[in-house]
Amino acid sequence: MADKRLTIAIDGYSACGKSTLARSLAKRLGYSYIDTGAMYRAVTLYLQRKQVDIENPEAVAAAMRNLRISFQPADNHVLLNGENVEKEIRGLAVSQMVSPVAALSTVRRALVDQQRLMGADGGVILDGRDIGTVVFPDADLKLFVVADLDTRIDRRLNELLTAGREVRRDEVAANLEERDYIDSHRADSPLRQAEDAILLDNTNLNLEQLVEKGVELVENLRKGQ
Ligand code: DC
Repeated sequence: MADKRLTIAIDGYSACGKSTLARSLAKRLGYSYIDTGAMYRAVTLYLQRKQVDIENPEAVAAAMRNLRISFQPADNHVLLNGENVEKEIRGLAVSQMVSPVAALSTVRRALVDQQRLMGADGGVILDGRDIGTVVFPDADLKLFVVADLDTRIDRRLNELLTAGREVRRDEVAANLEERDYIDSHRADSPLRQAEDAILLDNTNLNLEQLVEKGVELVENLRKGQ
């Protein structure tokens, strides 16, 4: 186990801190990081731009054949058909559409296949909603990150304000609550904690403490505890 390049799955609700944890932990371990939420966001942006009717499965399937999602190695920014769309996918317009899009099986099948290929060699951390339950059910380590709703709203609001976006707290709150509901109630791969996932409550931790927790869990796993 000591030298094995692990596959680490991190799941949780929106804005619970899982991406921050995944990114920092990947850096510490020298692993690659795959932000699967960014992939669903990039698909959403494409469908919005092309004005695809998401109720029309054939139109969605055709769109999926025409788009290619990749990550820019230097900074992990997401590329949609080669275009850096990192900034655009974080805005409220995409955030308000992404959960209905992520509920579509046509979209999920294509992205899950791609995520499995990207993570096939191990040495990778993926974060999302279905990583430990569907994408890599045999992951070496599974974490399920939670935090109080108010804490999540404040953190997301801060992120958006820092990025120079004009948003109100009530808009952010409504979006998070709506996404939580859709993500955990959809028929295909609903968000839930895998039975063998470790619950990590991030409400009262700062970034450093959160990452230390992650590192500790990886070390325990390596020691075979
Ligand atoms: O992590 P995020 O907020 O960027 O994710 C955006 C949306 O994508 C989220 O509301 C649900 C969806 N998603 C998903 O269904 N499965 C994943 N593995 C990752 C994200």
